[in-house]
Amino acid sequence: MTTALPYTRTPNPQPATPERVAEVLAEPGFGQHFTDHMVTIRWNREQGWHDARVEPYHSLELDPAAMVLHYGQAIFEGLKAYRRPDGTIASFRPQANAERFRASARRLAMPELPDELFLGSIRELLAVDSRWVPTVAEDSLYLRPFLYATEKGLGVRPATEYLYVLIASPAGSYFAGGLKPVTVWLSTEYVRAAPGGTGAAKFAGNYAASLVAQAQAAEQGCDQVVWLDAVERRWVEEMGGMNLFFVLGSGPDARVVTPELSGALLPGITRNSLLRLAADFGYGVEERRFSTEEWEKKAESGELTEVFACGTAAVITPVGHVKHADGEFSVSGGATGEVTLRLRERLTGIQQGLVEDSHGWMTEL
Ligand code: PLP
Ligand code: COI
Repeated sequence: MTTALPYTRTPNPQPATPERVAEVLAEPGFGQHFTDHMVTIRWNREQGWHDARVEPYHSLELDPAAMVLHYGQAIFEGLKAYRRPDGTIASFRPQANAERFRASARRLAMPELPDELFLGSIRELLAVDSRWVPTVAEDSLYLRPFLYATEKGLGVRPATEYLYVLIASPAGSYFAGGLKPVTVWLSTEYVRAAPGGTGAAKFAGNYAASLVAQAQAAEQGCDQVVWLDAVERRWVEEMGGMNLFFVLGSGPDARVVTPELSGALLPGITRNSLLRLAADFGYGVEERRFSTEEWEKKAESGELTEVFACGTAAVITPVGHVKHADGEFSVSGGATGEVTLRLRERLTGIQQGLVEDSHGWMTEL
């Protein structure tokens, strides 16, 4: 197995000025601005992983017959690097992203990038672009590794040539409203993923398939789509780029429930982390099926006290209102709950280096 590769390093001859970096970091938004460099690594059947490079951020050339453009072999990851109070930089659970990247590759019949190369690519990029890691509270440098099929040809089969790329983008809040509770749309017309499909992979096509329902949600005045299972259209799965949690009860007796990993939803790293933090707080923790009827019924009876979405980009975002084809309802009047805030504070505290990282999640690369 490849554990390390020699890198060709080409510094950007025209890096952004310090003034420009400061301007971007003052208001990073999400996914709008990119750092001075990128990493690429090639794979082909004969040589395996080879030709690792750090280069100035640049456009990619693609043959019109490149297989990704026709049959869609493309996967990605999303993780963040944070600047800690002592100035050092650490990323949140990058090993888990490396493993999920390999799982996605397997599902799409693509080559698996060894974890050491995945982690090494982050190390290389942070070494040259560390000045782009924000210093402001919750802001971070969002890292976007991706892999796609570059082989030229129109036969339908797994490609024999791929390009791995890592780019980075300073990130603030994913939602324009910050911590304001979002309104969600229960999608019964469209489904995101079916049993045996690609839903558990971070596969580009899953996101393409979600866009029409996202547009429908926006038409209904909602911020996000909630996906239901493909067969019965009653079991809650996840949102377009986030997992979901439900809080039953309140105070020390609160229980947090998240849909079980059905094979059709993404096994979120934030989801996994919050299950552990909730247990640390002494809350009951359940991974099980959760239906739209339970959601509405328990919201009305008051047993369901909080709902929130979580993910790398979205962090933890409260869900206040729910709309569906036959009506709408609120959870606790649409207010942000105590369990949501407690979990959010602990998670972001660990990420920013403000509270003890008792699970050893933060990794200096
Ligand atoms: N679900 C989907 C479809 C996603 O795209 C994401 C974002 O990565 C998540 C859930 C949350 O996963 P994570 O917490 O690993 O970012
Ligand atoms: C992430 O949270 O990293 C994602 O990939 C979600 C996407 C909607 C930005």
